[in-house]
Amino acid sequence: MKTDRPGIAHTLRRALPSPGIAGFVLKATLAALLIAGTPVALTTLLRPAGPHPQATPPARAGLPPLPDLPRRDSRALVIYIHQDSTRQPPMKVPLSRPDISSEDIEAVVSVLKTPNLSLGPEVAAFESAVSTTVRSPHAVAVSSGTAGLHCLVRALGIGPGDEVVTSPFSFVASANVMLFEGARPVFADINPETLDLDPEAVERAITRRTKALLPVHVFGRPCRITEISALAGRHGLKLIEDACEALGTTVARRHAGTFGDAGVYAFYPNKQMTTGEGGMIVTGDEDLAAACRSLRNQGRAEGGGWLEHVQLGYNYRLPDILCALGRSQVSRLEEFVAGRERVARSYIARLTEIPGVIPPAPARPGERISWFVFVVRLAEEFSRADRDAVLASLRAAGVECRNYFVPIHLQPFYRERFGFKEGDFPVTEAIAARTIALPFHNRLTEDEVDYVARQLAAALRTLPASKRA
Ligand SMILES: Cc1ncc(COP(=O)(O)O)c(C=O)c1O
Repeated sequence: MKTDRPGIAHTLRRALPSPGIAGFVLKATLAALLIAGTPVALTTLLRPAGPHPQATPPARAGLPPLPDLPRRDSRALVIYIHQDSTRQPPMKVPLSRPDISSEDIEAVVSVLKTPNLSLGPEVAAFESAVSTTVRSPHAVAVSSGTAGLHCLVRALGIGPGDEVVTSPFSFVASANVMLFEGARPVFADINPETLDLDPEAVERAITRRTKALLPVHVFGRPCRITEISALAGRHGLKLIEDACEALGTTVARRHAGTFGDAGVYAFYPNKQMTTGEGGMIVTGDEDLAAACRSLRNQGRAEGGGWLEHVQLGYNYRLPDILCALGRSQVSRLEEFVAGRERVARSYIARLTEIPGVIPPAPARPGERISWFVFVVRLAEEFSRADRDAVLASLRAAGVECRNYFVPIHLQPFYRERFGFKEGDFPVTEAIAARTIALPFHNRLTEDEVDYVARQLAAALRTLPASKRA
């Protein structure tokens, strides 16, 4: 903290950065006081930029107390000027938000009133609700999307020496599940517009060691699952769909996750619907479903004893409390998906007006995107540093945002273990350097969309003009 006994010029210079009506009032007050000959002690609080405390006056925000003033100088006036770095953003827009209704809460509470908190009737009820919703014969509830993918890799007999072709432009769990079983994830590059696996790149990545394909329906947009499914058929490969981000997504009215041997949905709170943590395997293969049920439950056999373990298994169970929440949530899936479509439309309408911003590509004919996150890209002339500067500006304006994704092959652990480096998957890398996930959930208001769009446009205006042409 710094205390001055400044002259008029110095005081006004200090006040000048304050913009808007507040700045004008402050400057006018200072000028009047100074002209009247009132001594002014100007205390400027400098705080580092960072998260803003919620609209809190200085005294309650833990800022330093007012300095002691000389008793004889009873006319002294202390003015706190908040520098730009401490000004509160007018709006705070979270990146995501679950939609929990009173019925959801009631469903959870009603389970808590029973003795069946795990392995009770809510598990089968939730499984049945999801299998009906996506029209898949079998559904197996698990503790997370990762757990579901892992069960499938294991149950399909994928292990040491095997390769699985997947996308480097995904959440790290898509590839980690192969490593859990000693198999190797092999990456293929993506389509630069739709950000999904390029089927031709997938075909080029297939070797005699390839055992399965694991395409990702990234951000809720369907990947080219028909072509990839045909590819799996032609090469005699298993097909696991990572539909963790895509519950509600369809291609020709068929749900993502139901094209391959099996698919997995995930229910973390930023997803279309949530159970807090959780996942669901769907499959048409009864034996595969049974194998997954055993794996999620410590390798117990169906109908076997509690202390009888027929194989190495895991505790990947989803408790009844969460299954009840899931069942209640999935009954509103269409409402969630439609709400997200509305928000996506509003964003696209606003963002197409902003030069330098590329909104997500529209759905291909016959596809329905169940929007998971809303990820825009900066145009090619912008660098990663430009994108990071925009992220920082948005955050300073109260807009939560994220750089979805860091490519999996460039994660420190993957670089170290497999020797991946920049340039290995150029399309993925070029895209990942310029992505910005904007706040997104089904209840985002028009005002919030408008605010985010305006802040994005303002952030871009701070970048070199040559790039904004
Ligand atoms: C594409 C993808 N795969 C797998 C997962 C893993 O799901 P979970 O976090 O429930 O383990 C996620 C989670 O966000 C994901 O986005």
